[in-house]
Amino acid sequence: EHADPATLPLRGLTVLVTAGPTQESLDPVRYLTNHSTGKMGYAIAETARDMGAAVTLVSGPTALEAPDGVDMVRVTSAQDMFDAVTAHFEDADITVMAAAVGDFRAENVHPQKIKKHGRTSLELKLVSNPDILAWAGGHKRPGPVAGQGEARPQVLCGFAMETEHLVEHAAQKLGEKHCDMLVANNLNDRGAGFATDTNVVTLLTPGAAPEPLSIMGKGDLAGLILGRLAVIRANKLA
Ligand code: CTP
Ligand code: CA
Repeated sequence: EHADPATLPLRGLTVLVTAGPTQESLDPVRYLTNHSTGKMGYAIAETARDMGAAVTLVSGPTALEAPDGVDMVRVTSAQDMFDAVTAHFEDADITVMAAAVGDFRAENVHPQKIKKHGRTSLELKLVSNPDILAWAGGHKRPGPVAGQGEARPQVLCGFAMETEHLVEHAAQKLGEKHCDMLVANNLNDRGAGFATDTNVVTLLTPGAAPEPLSIMGKGDLAGLILGRLAVIRANKLA
């Protein structure tokens, strides 16, 4: 907070972050969700703010306090998160999607509480949610194109949580969703995963070898990720 503003690495840039889980309603009292706490995404939002960016944080339901000095958009479902991201994406120079988005929602939300009486089993039909990161990858501006003015480039970073075949699965997401970087972690690594203050990740970028990092605090990792994304952006301008 005592840094000289002229040296802040993200000064003048807008950063959009998604964080936390989503909730998909089944009926008026029940929902589907996951174990995400939002810690990694909030660390990215706070660090981006400290690096001088204007930050929009689109967050699913979490127990975390809204960070000071961040434009907070609270959402519930994946569709809500999609709507918030599509509304803010164009303004973003750097977008980091750390949310654990529900892949499926109920085809029909029961208007009344589902009653157990008379049932020995229950089938729920689920349908897929929009993939927010893939949408962003398909809509990002590549950067200045010769003879076409000076569109600001957009840098896109996704996350991937895997339980097996980390690099193969993450590399597929990096390519299919047109990300500039993908931060992959294995839920089974000690010090990685949900509700921890540390993370163990491998960074993937197009055309480069995967880069496994040692265990680090989520705040330090946020700084490292944002620093890399700033360099990727500078290279798109060069
Ligand atoms: N993501 C998203 N919208 C979705 C699903 C995922 O924006 N509907 C984003 C996540 O925020 C994350 C990345 O995509 O940045 C990868 O999420 P992940 O769940 O690991 O991958 P999926 O593509 O959903 O594949 P799967 O869950 O089958 O591994
Ligand atoms: Ca998923």
